[in-house]
Amino acid sequence: MPMETQSKTIFEQFLAPLFGQLIDREALLEFRNSIDWEAAIAEIANPQVIYPDYYQNSNFHGVQNGYLSIDAAVTYDPITQYVLPPNETWVRESLVKAIQGRPRRILDLGCGTGTTTRLLKRQFPQAEVVGLDLSPQMLVVADHKARTESLDLTLRHGNAIATGLPPVSFDVVCATLLFHETPPAVAKTILQESWRVLSPGGQLLVLDGNQQTLRSIDWLNTIFEEPFIREYGQGNLDAWLGYAGFEVVRTQDVFWLNQLSTARKPLPVSTPVQTSVQTPDIETPGFEGVLAW
Ligand SMILES: C[S@@+](CC[C@H](N)C(=O)[O-])C[C@H]1O[C@@H](n2cnc3c(N)ncnc32)[C@H](O)[C@@H]1O
Repeated sequence: MPMETQSKTIFEQFLAPLFGQLIDREALLEFRNSIDWEAAIAEIANPQVIYPDYYQNSNFHGVQNGYLSIDAAVTYDPITQYVLPPNETWVRESLVKAIQGRPRRILDLGCGTGTTTRLLKRQFPQAEVVGLDLSPQMLVVADHKARTESLDLTLRHGNAIATGLPPVSFDVVCATLLFHETPPAVAKTILQESWRVLSPGGQLLVLDGNQQTLRSIDWLNTIFEEPFIREYGQGNLDAWLGYAGFEVVRTQDVFWLNQLSTARKPLPVSTPVQTSVQTPDIETPGFEGVLAW
């Protein structure tokens, strides 16, 4: 398979050969050839989407054109299984298990090939689960996986900083492995957009690289050819979430290399009803209608 790799990156010199040993290249090639990419991309891509500079001019993981490449999309799952120790599914399940109640609508930002998106749908089959990503190629793989498993996912080509989705329309918004791939200013804008689309009381969950670990073990930032991972590691997701207006902000370690941040969009502050006569049995307005948990 022709791999569009940069020359002399650390990824190419050390990791690509290693992954090359671990990956079944024949099976990957068969998978790549089984898809009519031009037709599939045309079906899923939104021609109005404008790719931000950081996205189209960066070579994520040493792959030219980053995620706007068929090779990146095809090799993503086989490689990712080795970079979420001790077990990819356990790491992803930490996010799914932290969701409270029974959400009716879930948005997975930067859903990529839809691995977490699928887990969300399996855990909450009654919910409408929407996956959004900037890469049509990654969405084609996500769509292929969902169809193979007869999972009803809504996949949407778009930018997480301005999704175009209606305000106050999701009970849960989540992002897995998205923020270490974006400049911090973009990550903060995505948090504002998450706030906009969440219902009051709705839950935000961010699963990503462990910022404390990335700060203390610098070579981790070097090996994966991630253009923004060092800046991400220097940041503090709790602070970003607080700044965006979220409450009940918590970040916990997920095994060795990852962290899970959870937060809630506050309910509106209810002002006491002003009456001239004391009426003790007046009901306080409730939010059961908008609360899923
Ligand atoms: C490391 S992958 C993670 C994919 C998936 N969430 C997972 O856990 O496997 C990062 C994904 O974020 C997407 N992405 C990066 N910036 C984005 C943005 N501004 N809006 C939407 N998706 C974005 C990329 O296209 C890529 O699919």
